[in-house]
Amino acid sequence: MTSDQARTILVTGGAGFIGSHTCVELLNSGHTIVVLDNLSNSSVRSLDAVRRITNRTLGFVQGDLRDVDCLDAIFASHPIDAVIHFGGLKAVGESVKKPMLYYENNVTGTLLLINAMKAHEVKTLVFSSSATVYGDPARVPATEDLPTNATNPYGRSKLIVEQMLRDLHASDPEWRISLLRYFNPVGAHASGELGEDPRGTPNNLLPYIAQVAVGRLPHLRVFGNDYDTRDGTGVRDYIHVVDLARGHLAALNYLSQPGLSVHNLGSGCGSSVMEAICAFEEASGRTIPYRVVERRSGDIAECWADTSKARRELGWSATLDLKDMCRDAWRWQSRHPNGFG
Ligand code: NAD
Ligand code: UFG
Repeated sequence: MTSDQARTILVTGGAGFIGSHTCVELLNSGHTIVVLDNLSNSSVRSLDAVRRITNRTLGFVQGDLRDVDCLDAIFASHPIDAVIHFGGLKAVGESVKKPMLYYENNVTGTLLLINAMKAHEVKTLVFSSSATVYGDPARVPATEDLPTNATNPYGRSKLIVEQMLRDLHASDPEWRISLLRYFNPVGAHASGELGEDPRGTPNNLLPYIAQVAVGRLPHLRVFGNDYDTRDGTGVRDYIHVVDLARGHLAALNYLSQPGLSVHNLGSGCGSSVMEAICAFEEASGRTIPYRVVERRSGDIAECWADTSKARRELGWSATLDLKDMCRDAWRWQSRHPNGFG
């Protein structure tokens, strides 16, 4: 397998936020796709949008990672070359309340996926890890060699899978595994037809702000303005979801050689909550009412990525800034106030 070759790729969780945007980039690059998603946190309409945007077809199986027969049938009926594995649950608070659900979906689901890949001799895998594995990072910008320390079941499920994949690779060096640690993915496709559609009240800052701007929520709560940061509010590394999606193509190309690699995918810039509010107000022309409230339990002051390893090894870096992220998120939110409905 050489780089830039057209492949058949199984995209687990491909109907979700990051998965659907990655499907657009994969199809535009000539790859063939089969999506496996149980739609527990997404709508099949995201895949209709992917088809419309790219004017291409893709395969879709509504099924669960934990369904061994379903996995087997997919590998038996498609010539899969590689798997990009987004499928899993991601809500930190829910993971504290329902830890076993998170271990079952994220850890057992991945284990069963790997078993199916092994059985069908597919040994190329890109895995969605998270900056959450740095916990409160020992220093910023965070480099990939920092000690890891997850602080909740969701984060631990990511760390367990990372470790599981290292053990797998150590036992069989023919595997080609990319662990991608995403920072804070936001924004939407430039068409305005594909974007983030969280179920219930959003947990994350940008989708919350977008729903305030469009009038679905009355005001934003800013979780603390007494952090040791430039304006007292939390600082994060927001990355445009289209940049992030392109990072997966770069990772796939990098996997033309066997090995296991770890890369941060972030913009390399930290933005505070107040800066995000200002950027969204500018992009939308709307005022975002907000109230400063207590810190949110478990939050850290600041986290942003050192992206030099991804730049050096993958030849990838973010090209879009916070202004672009807010513009595209607003285009999506204002055209689709209720998401995919
Ligand atoms: P998302 O919820 O939009 O997408 C995940 C998809 O997986 C959903 O479509 C869901 O229906 C599907 N899914 C969940 N469990 C499944 C199962 N057992 N079988 C089949 N499908 C299943 O989330 P996202 O933001 O697109 O995140 C994608 C991946 O990236 C996740 O693994 C997440 O943990 C990781 N990640 C996300 C962020 C973020 O802030 N969005 C940050 C770091 C890492
Ligand atoms: N914030 C608010 N009000 C809100 C929501 C968030 O002030 O309503 C603040 C937070 O306190 C934080 C910043 O906005 O300072 C960003 O918060 P998010 O919830 O958007 O993002 P986090 O960095 O806390 O966490 C996200 C995901 C995690 C993931 C992590 C790193 O939720 O799952 O990014 O990728 F691990």
